[in-house]
Amino acid sequence: MFVMEILVMPDPAAVGEEAARAVTRILAARPRPVLGIATGSSPIATYESLARAAAEGEFDPSAVTAFALDEYVGLPLDHPESYHRVVQRDVVEKLGLSPERVHVLDGTASDLKEECADFERRMQAAGGVDVQILGIGANGHIGFNEPGSSLGSRTRIKTLAPQTRRDNARFFGGRIGDVPIHCLTQGIQTIMEARSIVLVAHGAGKAEAVAAMIEGPSGAHCPASALQWHPRAIVVLDEEAAAGLKHREYYDFARDNSGSSLV
Ligand code: GLP
Repeated sequence: MFVMEILVMPDPAAVGEEAARAVTRILAARPRPVLGIATGSSPIATYESLARAAAEGEFDPSAVTAFALDEYVGLPLDHPESYHRVVQRDVVEKLGLSPERVHVLDGTASDLKEECADFERRMQAAGGVDVQILGIGANGHIGFNEPGSSLGSRTRIKTLAPQTRRDNARFFGGRIGDVPIHCLTQGIQTIMEARSIVLVAHGAGKAEAVAAMIEGPSGAHCPASALQWHPRAIVVLDEEAAAGLKHREYYDFARDNSGSSLV
């Protein structure tokens, strides 16, 4: 069954709680749960809610294997903004995941193509991703798949868009020159193979990208719009991120009338 569920929450904290509930529910049903993790500011509240759920015994992090979406090329692994460090700090430590079960692409590998191929092999060996947490870039990117990325792409080396480098300069003390130019990222097709996707977005800066993802034509101009073809995508938004949606009334109506026997 193909379904994109759109849930609009009053504020970013509620977005995190709702997303964490969905992730917990999906992983609880899996004997060897595999979680896809995203970096960036959007999923922070989700990780905080998952950490609370773990502390209260509602979510068991002990058996979880995790795969991160992307990584900068050339940043030392111990750089505070390398996704190795960010994943360690924001996800592994908060949730209590076993570090040896958490996979992050190595942007310092001597053979980057082989690193990407090996990462895909590790994902397959783990049985694929059960639920992928996603944010969305202001330009509609998912992972680091910038506009124009092939919808059939797999994990590979990419050049970051100037807008993404400007957006992420805030993590590098505002110095755009310090933001790497290249990255490794799971491809759009790789992401689409996750059995479920939970995408979170908040803030007015995401409203245009969110509207294009959900209601625009599906195409490479907005990589997140590939999710229109995903069998099980849950999109959790705050009011500001949902502000550009034309069919908001319908999404709310569908949510309020979706009995568990229907979806
Ligand atoms: C980053 C990450 C994405 C993230 C997006 C939005 O650069 N590579 O995975 O979803 O851009 O970031 P933020 O959530 O901080 O707005």
